Amino acid sequence: MERIVVRGGARLEGEVRASGSKNSALALLAASLLAEGTTVLRNVPRVRDVFAMLDLLRALGARADFTAEDPHCVRIQADGVGEPEAPYELVRKMRASFMVLGPLLARFGVGRVSEPGGCAIGVRPVDQHLKGLEALGAKVQLDHGTIEASGAPLTGGRFRFDRVTVNGTQNVMMAATLAEGESVLENCAREPEVVELADVLNRMGAEIRGAGSASLQITGVSSLRGLTHAISGDRIEAGTLLVAGMITKGEVRVTGLDSSHLDNILDKLRETGAELRVDYDAVTVFCNEASKALQVRTAPYPGFPTDMQAQLMALLCVGSASSVVTETVFENRFMHVPELVRMGADISLDGRSAHVHGVTKLLGAPVMATDLRASASLLLAGLAAQGETVVSRVYHIDRGYERIEEKLRSLGAEIRRED
Ligand code: UD1
Repeated sequence: MERIVVRGGARLEGEVRASGSKNSALALLAASLLAEGTTVLRNVPRVRDVFAMLDLLRALGARADFTAEDPHCVRIQADGVGEPEAPYELVRKMRASFMVLGPLLARFGVGRVSEPGGCAIGVRPVDQHLKGLEALGAKVQLDHGTIEASGAPLTGGRFRFDRVTVNGTQNVMMAATLAEGESVLENCAREPEVVELADVLNRMGAEIRGAGSASLQITGVSSLRGLTHAISGDRIEAGTLLVAGMITKGEVRVTGLDSSHLDNILDKLRETGAELRVDYDAVTVFCNEASKALQVRTAPYPGFPTDMQAQLMALLCVGSASSVVTETVFENRFMHVPELVRMGADISLDGRSAHVHGVTKLLGAPVMATDLRASASLLLAGLAAQGETVVSRVYHIDRGYERIEEKLRSLGAEIRRED
């Protein structure tokens, strides 16, 4: 099994490009099932979750693969989908697989997806996805662990999500594009990835209004057609690389992004003492001082993203300030805490809040990655720690970061991957 070894202490300096957004890519790959003809996605990150989604699309009968000419370009042809069932072995690997249910149902009249079950960071039910599809006239049943949604053609309907869900909003929105008549979805997620998906669906021929607000109005159309689209930069990867610059008191410029997507992250980095230069498609961070005290609460967009919580916590571990980090989105997203404590961090947990008391130094240690963002926070802590940190189970980090160790090395980090 692979592991990543970091020797802390190097000041990171230089420019690095963010890959395309993993979460946008996953939603757009699911959306390609809706389109007649060929869909071409560019700037697709070569990460494990994307490979898992491509495996799933192929298992459904679509043609879907990276092209030989461009290693970040994927071509999908879903006209031949004949098997509407997403098997357990593939769904279990990645919960975002559940997003194929709406498109399968809307285009092929039936979709079967294994119930994804919980995961390391929480129970993560899919009730909102299902209630939303039912509001469009689908019949939903659970049979031996597989959820079947059927009922073509779908009809427009009104639905209010009981709680904000990103993939739930995307799933129901995709289904509504091919429903007969008008749908209104309320209390929707407003993440940039939801907006990007709506923009792409509209360019495929859909009629979606209101993306980026809590209310979506969708007029169903009879078909959608494939297109070519370049995926926007990954705001969470970009945020992680900026924290890498800060935690090593360095100067790092991250390019290949839409900086307006990072407002909620940049505000908090500024509060902790970063100096930022924000351009339209790049952000530069400079940091000479230890991080200042911070109160931060994760929340759906435009709140502070839960996907940056663990990385920000690594930053707050070093210094003399005391901070409070509250996680409101997932119930069990503090798995990095015991590992950070093994590196000398002073963190106490109190329900959904972590009280972080900065320490003068972290000490390298063997640590274990438990989920995607937790593993990123351990790498960041390792960059600042004295001595060597060995992060095992790095397949978690490979789910969402493309060649993270190469990117950090290009900035001057002493980091290597080992078998
Ligand atoms: C997406 C992102 C993930 C991010 C999360 C929150 C992708 C592939 N993943 O995950 O990186 O951490 O948004 O920003 O885009 N919930 C329910 N019922 C449902 C659906 C969700 O109770 O039917 C709950 C979840 O358990 C969680 C909360 O709602 O507590 C938010 O989850 P959600 O926004 O759905 O996360 P995902 O879309 O799965």
